[in-house]
Amino acid sequence: MQRLLNKQVVLGISGGIAAYKSAELVRRLKDAGADVRVVMTRAAHEFITPLTLQALSGNPVHGDLLDPAAEAAMGHIELARWADLVLIAPATADLMARLANGRGDDLLTTLVLATDAPVALAPAMNQAMWRDSATQANLQTLLQREIRVFGPAAGEQACGDIGPGRMLEPTDIAARCAECFERGLLSGRHVLINAGPTREAIDPVRYISNHSSGKMGFALAEAAAEAGARVTLVAGPVNLPTPARVDRIDVVSAADMLAACEAALPADLFIASAAVADYRPASCASGKLKKDTASDAGMTLQLVRNPDILATLATHAQRPWCVGFAAETDDVLGYASDKLTRKNLDLIIANDVSQPGIGFNSDDNAVTLIDRSLTPQPLPRASKHKLARQIIAFIANRLNSPA
Ligand code: C5P
Repeated sequence: MQRLLNKQVVLGISGGIAAYKSAELVRRLKDAGADVRVVMTRAAHEFITPLTLQALSGNPVHGDLLDPAAEAAMGHIELARWADLVLIAPATADLMARLANGRGDDLLTTLVLATDAPVALAPAMNQAMWRDSATQANLQTLLQREIRVFGPAAGEQACGDIGPGRMLEPTDIAARCAECFERGLLSGRHVLINAGPTREAIDPVRYISNHSSGKMGFALAEAAAEAGARVTLVAGPVNLPTPARVDRIDVVSAADMLAACEAALPADLFIASAAVADYRPASCASGKLKKDTASDAGMTLQLVRNPDILATLATHAQRPWCVGFAAETDDVLGYASDKLTRKNLDLIIANDVSQPGIGFNSDDNAVTLIDRSLTPQPLPRASKHKLARQIIAFIANRLNSPA
């Protein structure tokens, strides 16, 4: 079921008595880590209320293709793109007929036409309706279009008949949904990433910080989520949107960042991409510091060392696989290898920040990966997004087959 973690499932419900089981299905999908948005046909409202499904899914329920307010919130095309899987359960004989004919006369059928995601049906109907040649012809058409069909099961039916046409049980449908997805490289892993700068307060209005944009860490969080991991991203003050399927915790100072990272343990992997301020003012003034107007005398700021977040997690009782960054201007590989050993890391990602156009605050980067064998593996200049996917693939490989 880990394959459903972070997956976005549109659950379509059409108007059959089995719709009462769709509430349980929402729970099973959510328990497996999926984000679920429900789309109901008009007839489905006769069997189950949108309120129940909204409460269980935690998302508004979609129903009307022509409702301007709903379209403004999340239009049918947006919903079609959002879906990693469109599952229709129950799928009635009428719904199957409309799909087989390529109709787009309500939100659910339109969505099926508009989506590139896999579509699956869990049929539910009276056994005679299921056996009817028209339904069987529609079934063949849908199978030819690579629509997946889960069930139906045979047995006693709501109408008292016995035969094929019962909707599969919610647990079985959820298991079949999971099979629609490949296992990601980091499926079932918890990945903790920190990113961005920290700010160390001097007084209520001033602070010490640096120019880190957080772009590399955010790209890594996105790539790890794409690879199926549960991702916790501890972010310093940055101006970046949260990548999809990533839990973000915003912090300000190095001390807050360390506390948030420790609280997020246990994790399988920790990637320390944050540019943590090495020093902070020895004390933060309670009021705004005033300049000395009587003289031109300078001012001395007493600084103390901040904790090293990476080194702390690398010696933690719940130590994750630890990855650090080394931004250097000279003897990049020498200093990076030294950092790998000194901080007790599994991997260090070295980059030469003296080169223009890469590294700090830019969209591109070029890095060298160095693991404990100390054999450097260069990754040439590319966008931070592309590099992030390469780095995540490299790390996942190591985690999945330790030397
Ligand atoms: O020692 P240096 O700052 O060059 O090490 C860089 C690596 O250590 C980065 O991965 C950075 O996130 C981490 N670091 C840390 N806490 C600090 C300083 C650096 O986690 N106080």
